[in-house]
Amino acid sequence: MRKRLIAGNWKMNMLRGEAAELARGVVESTRRLAGKVDIILAPPFTALDAVGKELQGTGIMLGAQNVFWEERGAFTGEISPGMLADSGCSWVIVGHSERRRILGETDEMVRMKLAASLKAGLKVIVCVGETLEERDRGHTVKVVEGQVVKALTGTGISDPGGLVIAYEPVWAIGTGRHATPAEAEFVQSAIREIAGNILGDSAARIRIVYGGSVNEENIRDLLAEPDIDGALVGGASLRAESMASIVETAGEQ
Ligand code: PGA
Repeated sequence: MRKRLIAGNWKMNMLRGEAAELARGVVESTRRLAGKVDIILAPPFTALDAVGKELQGTGIMLGAQNVFWEERGAFTGEISPGMLADSGCSWVIVGHSERRRILGETDEMVRMKLAASLKAGLKVIVCVGETLEERDRGHTVKVVEGQVVKALTGTGISDPGGLVIAYEPVWAIGTGRHATPAEAEFVQSAIREIAGNILGDSAARIRIVYGGSVNEENIRDLLAEPDIDGALVGGASLRAESMASIVETAGEQ
């Protein structure tokens, strides 16, 4: 049985004071569930420290939204896996579609980020997903397969518990339009099979989560699907009550 995982991706929101307050709210409202569900909060870099302090001793884990693949050196503006670990992070998100689309991140960069993060002992949520145009052309599985294969090949995953694949259809992110549970399950079971071709039996232990307009209303039906092990939550993670309600549902089933 794979432990459910709910990660809040705060994106470029929250000043330090606001972030600490939100983290405190999540801690208080999920206290009962912290051992039952893996909960991750991923604030912007500038608030890692403030949020980390609130999470100490709570069982809720700290994550970053991005990382660079080198450990140190002349890479102005970048942050290394070791720096994230040093800032209290145990998780990092790589390959989010906003980074692929707006910042020009390629599959090769995603692979290097994943490999460097795992090497540094971080756990990783790697995001994949198709655009609306790719979906309309019927290319969803092909696109996602390419992203998964390029990200995972040769990265040497020793602990399947430390790798999460987030299926996030680009057309569902921040749009209020989510994939139906059956649509998400179709793609996520394909992802498990693709991961199995690369990683063998350990793919059965990797968690595959859904992301894209997840909220307290749609989470229950999504989690009812066998290959949906949790959620990467954007907008709804910015309010303690909705985050808590999503975690609560994940803890029930
Ligand atoms: P959303 O974002 O929940 O606001 O759609 C999800 C994500 O981008 O991870």
